[in-house]
Amino acid sequence: MKILYIAGEALPFAASGGLGDVIGSLPAALNEQEGNDVRVIMPLYQHVSDKFRKKFEFLGSKYINLSWRSQYCGIFKYVHKGVTFYFLDNEFYFKRASLYGEFDDGERFAFFCRAALEIIPDIDFFPDVLHAHDWHAALSVIYLKQCYAKLDERYANIKAVFTIHNIQYQGIYDFAILGDVFGLMPSDREIVEYDGCINLLKGAIVCADRVSTVSPTYAKEILSPKFSHGLDPVLNLFSFKLSGILNGIDRDYYNPGRDKEIFANYSTRNMAGKAICKSGLQRMLGLPERDVPLVAVISRLVSHKGLDLVMLAGDDILKDDIQLVVLGMGDKSYEYYFERLAERYPDKCRALITYNRDLSKQIYSAADVFLMPSKSEPCGLAQMICSRYGAVPVIHETGGLYDSIKDVGCENGGNGFTFAAYSAYEMLNSVKRACAYFNSDREGFEKLRKKVMRVDFSWKQSALSYIELYNQL
Ligand code: GLC
Repeated sequence: MKILYIAGEALPFAASGGLGDVIGSLPAALNEQEGNDVRVIMPLYQHVSDKFRKKFEFLGSKYINLSWRSQYCGIFKYVHKGVTFYFLDNEFYFKRASLYGEFDDGERFAFFCRAALEIIPDIDFFPDVLHAHDWHAALSVIYLKQCYAKLDERYANIKAVFTIHNIQYQGIYDFAILGDVFGLMPSDREIVEYDGCINLLKGAIVCADRVSTVSPTYAKEILSPKFSHGLDPVLNLFSFKLSGILNGIDRDYYNPGRDKEIFANYSTRNMAGKAICKSGLQRMLGLPERDVPLVAVISRLVSHKGLDLVMLAGDDILKDDIQLVVLGMGDKSYEYYFERLAERYPDKCRALITYNRDLSKQIYSAADVFLMPSKSEPCGLAQMICSRYGAVPVIHETGGLYDSIKDVGCENGGNGFTFAAYSAYEMLNSVKRACAYFNSDREGFEKLRKKVMRVDFSWKQSALSYIELYNQL
């Protein structure tokens, strides 16, 4: 099958979160199955390093017409781990400080989506399935079905899958820009209309042949108003299209046995390096080099990550003889809270307000317990990454967290500590259970640690589920 991914980010080129991990690793996993050719189109941001750019092949350029605009689009190609990536170049749109969050994101990604469809004949790759991810790529599905498929048979044969990685981000705009910026007709209005605005996610849900999200539990959760950020009526109407497939992680990139970024390598067969990683991090951060439970939080510091609970329970967690290391950036209120917390507990707590993938690996490899109390979590990757590095996860039972981590108290023993009610007290209780286990039954804890490390969170199973989904189409 020929599959074309349209996405706003992909590792190792440019990423702001888990979406980048997925687009950076799922296509390769799909290509490992015989007979598949999965390719990716993404913007050429200024963040894409020269290391890669030097190896890019320039395929040509064309002008993309959208509404009254006509904009340059350079097309570059690069094959990475067996996956062909196409980068769309337009410095006016993509030479910006950040990937998203610019005042004209609507126009930037309308250009991106239109260009992605326009270059298909140039790259000579008419796919069987176009697979678009999140609101940045939603317009590619809308344009495909509303414009291109109606005029050109080659496009009419393309099936569309749309994946929601997080329903909170929907691409909501005023109707004033329907024609002027998005180049849509008044007759397209009802496709994208929701709550009196243009809602691009809604438009993609309506137009796509299939809609998926990144865990089975989240696929159910978003049918209810508690999780849907307003879109549950639409999703219920189209629930026949909807399914959930759990993400995997790139087991080569996240590999404590081989990583060069961490203080020492280790594996379930020889765990000696894990202790070196722990003391290495403690030394680096100026924390006392002691064998107390090291609890880590690595997260974008935004509201759905459940940090309100950590704010309520922070002092209680730090009352015990433990260490807490927080890594992440995001909303100022959380950044401020964790910085003050670290100031108040200089011997126990560090707050590293940054996004740094190497540093995150040093923390995963050093940690004993990993806290991820997300209020909602479409899939979540950190609970899988921490498992691979032998940090036992403590999670709130929601979305992909629920699908990947079961409590040690459950029938088959489980692979972490979980709590059902979204409450600071429940979370605190689970953190304390994990730390108490570490302190009171070290042998048992180390056994659990190895069990956690052995859980298979590779892409293999998920890739098969995606292939089945494409096959159904
Ligand atoms: C988003 C979600 C996260 C998911 C990731 C990749 O970032 O918030 O839960 O793991 O996308 O699908």
